[in-house]
Amino acid sequence: MATHYSTVAVTVTFVLSVISVLLLKPQKNLFTMIKHVNVKDHGAVGDGKTDDSLAVTNAWNAICHNSSYSIGNFNFPTGNYQIGPLTFTGPCKPGKMVVNVTGNVTASLKNAWPNNVDTWIKFEHVTNLVITGPGSFNGNGGSWWNQCEAAKGTCENNPTALAFHDCRGLTLNGLTSINSPRNHISINACDGATITNINLKAPENASNTDGIDISATNGVNVNGGNIGTGDDCIAINGGSYNINITNLNCGPGHGISVGSLGRIPSVKEVVSNIKVSSVNFFNTQNGVRIKTVKDGSGSASNITFSGIGMNGVQNPIVLSQFYCPHQNCTHKSYSQAVQISGVTFYDIHGTSAGPNAIDIECANGNSCVGVALSKINIQPAKGQSGVISICKNANVQSNVVSPPLNCTPLAAASLIEMPLDYNHNDKSQQEAIATT
Ligand SMILES: *[C@@H]1O[C@H](CO)[C@@H](O)[C@H](O)[C@H]1NC(C)=O
Ligand SMILES: *[C@@H]1O[C@H](CO)[C@@H](O)[C@H](O)[C@H]1NC(C)=O
Ligand SMILES: *[C@@H]1O[C@H](CO)[C@@H](O)[C@H](O)[C@H]1NC(C)=O
Ligand SMILES: *[C@@H]1O[C@H](CO)[C@@H](O)[C@H](O)[C@H]1NC(C)=O
Ligand SMILES: *[C@@H]1O[C@H](CO)[C@@H](O)[C@H](O)[C@H]1NC(C)=O
Ligand SMILES: *[C@@H]1O[C@H](CO)[C@@H](O)[C@H](O)[C@H]1NC(C)=O
Ligand SMILES: *[C@@H]1O[C@H](CO)[C@@H](O)[C@H](O)[C@H]1NC(C)=O
Repeated sequence: MATHYSTVAVTVTFVLSVISVLLLKPQKNLFTMIKHVNVKDHGAVGDGKTDDSLAVTNAWNAICHNSSYSIGNFNFPTGNYQIGPLTFTGPCKPGKMVVNVTGNVTASLKNAWPNNVDTWIKFEHVTNLVITGPGSFNGNGGSWWNQCEAAKGTCENNPTALAFHDCRGLTLNGLTSINSPRNHISINACDGATITNINLKAPENASNTDGIDISATNGVNVNGGNIGTGDDCIAINGGSYNINITNLNCGPGHGISVGSLGRIPSVKEVVSNIKVSSVNFFNTQNGVRIKTVKDGSGSASNITFSGIGMNGVQNPIVLSQFYCPHQNCTHKSYSQAVQISGVTFYDIHGTSAGPNAIDIECANGNSCVGVALSKINIQPAKGQSGVISICKNANVQSNVVSPPLNCTPLAAASLIEMPLDYNHNDKSQQEAIATT
C-alpha cells in the first residue's frame, strides 16, 4: 500500500469529488461537500396527522452540526409535514444550508402548543440559509385569530409563522405561506436578504397577519410575488437600511409601510435608503405609507416610491407624523418627532376608494424636509364621489400632481390624530371603515 498519494491521484480524487458535487448526488465519502438530508429518512411521516417535529429536528441537527460538509441540503419531499413550534439554531458547520420545501409544512393546532411561544418556525444565527419552494407553510392561524378576537384581547401576542433572527445572506425563493397566526415572515437583525416570488395569503379579516416585517436589518431585496394577508403587505421598521422592494402585487391588506416609527419615545428609530417600485395595490386600506408616532425619536430618510398602481385603495399615499397605534395618543402638543427627510413619490397612478388620495400631515414645519411628489394621478374609484389631497405643516415640492396639493402654510402642529390602522378588536372602528 502506497504511503503517500501521487499528485495524479490527488488531482483525480479532486476532480471526482467536484464532479460528484456538480451531480448533486448524495455521497458518503470524505470528499463530499453537499449532504442531502430527507426528513423522511429521519422518521418524518408526512401524512398531515403525525407530529413530525422530532424527525425534522433530528434531520436538521444531522447536517447543521456535522463539519464534514460545506453545504447542507435539507429536503421536505412531497407530503404534508405537521410540526409544532421549532427553532433551528445555527451557526451550522456547513457554510450554507439549503432547505428544499417540495411538500407542505403545517403547524400543529393551537391547543397542542406549549404556552408563550412567539414563533412557529424560527431560524437563528444561520448564515447563508436558502429556502426554496414550491412547497408551502400553513400556520393554521384560524384558531389563533378566533380565540383572541373572541376574548377581545390583543392579537399581537400570537406567534409569527417564519422568523429569521441574526442571519447573514438569507434567500427565500418561491415560497408560499398561508394563514399565519400573526405575521407571516419576520426578518430581524439580519444582514442581506433576498426574497423572490413570495406568495403570502390570509383572509382579509385575519388579525395582525402582516406579510413581511423587517427590522434592524441591512440590505433586503424583495422581488416578485403576491402578498394579500389582511394586514401590512410589508412593514419596514426601525434599524432598517438599504431595502429594495419591487414587482409585487399587494392586497387585500394595509399596504406597504415604513414604520410605525417612534412608538417608545426614548427609543431612537432610524430607517434609510428605502426604494419601493413597480408595486400594484388592490383594494388595500393604504397604499404607500410612512407613519411615525407622536413624540417618537429617530429619522426616516431617502425613501422613494415609484411606478405604483393603485386599484380601489382607501388611502393611496400617506405620510403621517400623527400615527396612533392604539387610538391612545393624548391630544397634547408635540414634544419631539421622528424626522422625515428626502421622500419621493413618483409615477403613482390609479384609483382611490376613499376621499383622501394624498394625505401628508407633518408635526411641524421642520419635521418633514425634502418631500417631493411628481407624476401622480389618482382618480376616484367607482362609487367614490371625488378625491382630494391633504397637506399640512409640510413644505412639499410637487409637479403634475392630481388631485393637486394645496399645502397649508407652515403652522403650529394641527394635532389631528389619525387612527389609520384600525384595531381588529374594535368593531365600531371596523364598521366605520366599512361604511366609509
Ligand atoms: C457526519 O457525517 C459523516 C459522514 O456521513 C458521518 O460519518 C459522521 O458520523 C457524521 N457526524 C456526526 C457528528 O453526525
Ligand atoms: C428539491 O427537491 C426536489 C425533489 O424533492 C428536487 O427535484 C429538486 O431538484 C430539489 N431542489 C434543490 C434546489 O435541491
Ligand atoms: C400543498 O398545499 C397546497 C396549497 O398551498 C395544495 O394545493 C397542495 O395540494 C398541497 N400538497 C400536499 C402534498 O399536501
Ligand atoms: C372572518 O370572516 C369569516 C367569514 O365571514 C368568519 O367566519 C370568521 O370568523 C372571521 N374571522 C375573524 C377572525 O373575524
Ligand atoms: C432593486 O431591485 C431592482 C430589481 O431587481 C434592481 O434592478 C435594482 O438594482 C435593485 N437595487 C438595489 C439597490 O439593490
Ligand atoms: C438613497 O437610497 C438609494 C437606494 O434606494 C441609494 O442608491 C442611494 O445611494 C441613497 N442616497 C444617499 C444619499 O444615501
Ligand atoms: C395607553 O397608553 C398608556 C400610557 O402610555 C398605557 O399605559 C396604556 O397601556 C395604553 N393603552 C393601550 C390600549 O395601549
